[in-house]
Amino acid sequence: MCGIFGCILQKNEASSTIHSGLKMLEYRGYDSVGIATIENGQLTIKKDSGKIDEVHEAHDLDDLPGRLGIGHTRWATHGAPYQVNAHPHTDCKNEIAVVHNGIIENFAELKTELEEFGHKFRSKTDTEIIAHLIEEYVKKGFIFVDAVRETVKRLDGSYAIAVIYTKEPDKIVCVRKESPLVLGIAEDGLYVASDIPAFLSKTNKSVIIEDGELIILSDLGIEIRNISNWQPVIREPETIDWEPEMAEKQGYSHFMLKEIHEQPLRLRNTLRLQDKYLELMTTFLDRAGEVFLVACGTSYHACLAASYLFSKLSFLATHPVIASEFVEQHGKSVNIDSTLLVVSQSGETADTLEAVESARLRAATVLGLTNVVGSTLTRVARVYICQQSGPEIGVAATKTFTCQLSVLAQLAVRLAKKRGKISHVEIEDIEEKLERIPDIVECTIKGQEENVKAIAKKYKGKPAFFFLGRGISSSVALEGKLKLMEISYIPSLAYPAGESKHGPISLIEPGFPVVFVCPQGDTHRSIIGNIMEMKARGASIIAIIEKGDQEIKELADDYVEVDSGLPELLTPIPFSVPLQLFAYYMALERDNDPDKPRNLAKSVTVK
Ligand code: F6R
Repeated sequence: MCGIFGCILQKNEASSTIHSGLKMLEYRGYDSVGIATIENGQLTIKKDSGKIDEVHEAHDLDDLPGRLGIGHTRWATHGAPYQVNAHPHTDCKNEIAVVHNGIIENFAELKTELEEFGHKFRSKTDTEIIAHLIEEYVKKGFIFVDAVRETVKRLDGSYAIAVIYTKEPDKIVCVRKESPLVLGIAEDGLYVASDIPAFLSKTNKSVIIEDGELIILSDLGIEIRNISNWQPVIREPETIDWEPEMAEKQGYSHFMLKEIHEQPLRLRNTLRLQDKYLELMTTFLDRAGEVFLVACGTSYHACLAASYLFSKLSFLATHPVIASEFVEQHGKSVNIDSTLLVVSQSGETADTLEAVESARLRAATVLGLTNVVGSTLTRVARVYICQQSGPEIGVAATKTFTCQLSVLAQLAVRLAKKRGKISHVEIEDIEEKLERIPDIVECTIKGQEENVKAIAKKYKGKPAFFFLGRGISSSVALEGKLKLMEISYIPSLAYPAGESKHGPISLIEPGFPVVFVCPQGDTHRSIIGNIMEMKARGASIIAIIEKGDQEIKELADDYVEVDSGLPELLTPIPFSVPLQLFAYYMALERDNDPDKPRNLAKSVTVK
């Protein structure tokens, strides 16, 4: 799960462009970085372990000669993040340089074979075998492009690869299989990258690459070929309507904060989805024999919330499943009557795609909800909806979570309508309330950010946290816990509040902080009981409440008020916002970089 970037410019030197492209991809991994360029038949490489800024300070990444090159920002899979394992990797003669995102599963066998032919390996990576294998095919007389083609036929696993070769110094050859790759076409040159924001400041004309395609970038333009039959592929560029600054910080100190503040805008977009896709998806859900809601991490929490929405609004029982467990748990029973509603911001999460593949093999219907058009999920789903959140750069999902919730709520309402399960008056009320959510989120951020900041300051030294909610709010509690843990590194637990007395309550001692998510509604009375239980044991209570909830205000040590007026089922969207802010300010209090939590990456493309 790394970022790759390459470019051929008409006039300028390439390295500073590659450097800035890699900066936009840093969210994909940031334990080492490297750039290779070619000029006068010579390869120049600079690479090292560390974040891009650190490596740039030590090596000046803007100062490599040549108008063509490739670069890589790494998230280690094979081989520790040392300089020698940083990409680009080269062949024995330092003529071929390769950057790669993905995993080569049969690299050990290939390495043994290549060692028998006398190849010497420098790194512990799977990627290096690609450079040596290309070298081997060139030795056998294949031209560069054919050597790359023969090489990838030997590779098992997932890869997006970009390769340059000193003997054909006017080309970048790229291949895609199960790892993202997009092309950018500009007046001043051609770009290839793992993700569109990497070249968005240069061009908004993009070509999405499909699995099994090989691309040759050269001064002549772009040539795409299907690897299996070598037929040329004609694909018109799409115009991407993301503004370049959408992918930058716009004055906020971190992407995460910018993305939290962007939520009202993004939620408004999400309310303007194309009717026909919502309708189509609702029809599939209505006809399904059984429905699984499949996702990882934050997207799974959105699925959990959706299971309450579908059950209470549309009278549809669903099974929310963590994607990495899907095959073990349901792989054998899934069948032609099963439908999977798969939720993935990136559309590239390997665990999620594995669940999708196994279900497809058993003829199940796959529906997708994602933020990335052109992602693998959009290609394998029978119908997909793009949630319209815009690119999310902060590793911790924020705006994409609330937008997922909004789409899932719209689907549940539509299904309720189709099934005639709730009255028109109720449906119209919910639809009107959904429209108000962006404004509610805006007021919550404006009115409560300083309060949340102060609460984070007060509790910054606490070694652990508890998050509790009932009903649909248990998914908000889980999400609040995940946010705090992943960027503040504070061990935290979350449970449906009713479950807390079946074990976890034994952790409570005076001063232990417990965050309660307490909207008004069916669960309000019982959550007050749970607050009392915790309070009786000395816990410090932090409550997220509906504005004016006097009863809980009197019980809580600290509280955040959300002026929502929403039915309980719609409260997860505004009620999760204070928890995002809490995690963000806690990370700052503890001197962590919220945009780049340790050991994590934005898009988890390994199983
Ligand atoms: C947490 C987070 C992750 C992702 C998970 C799934 O803030 O971002 O837990 O939600 O890796 O990613 P997608 O939605 O891209 O499949």
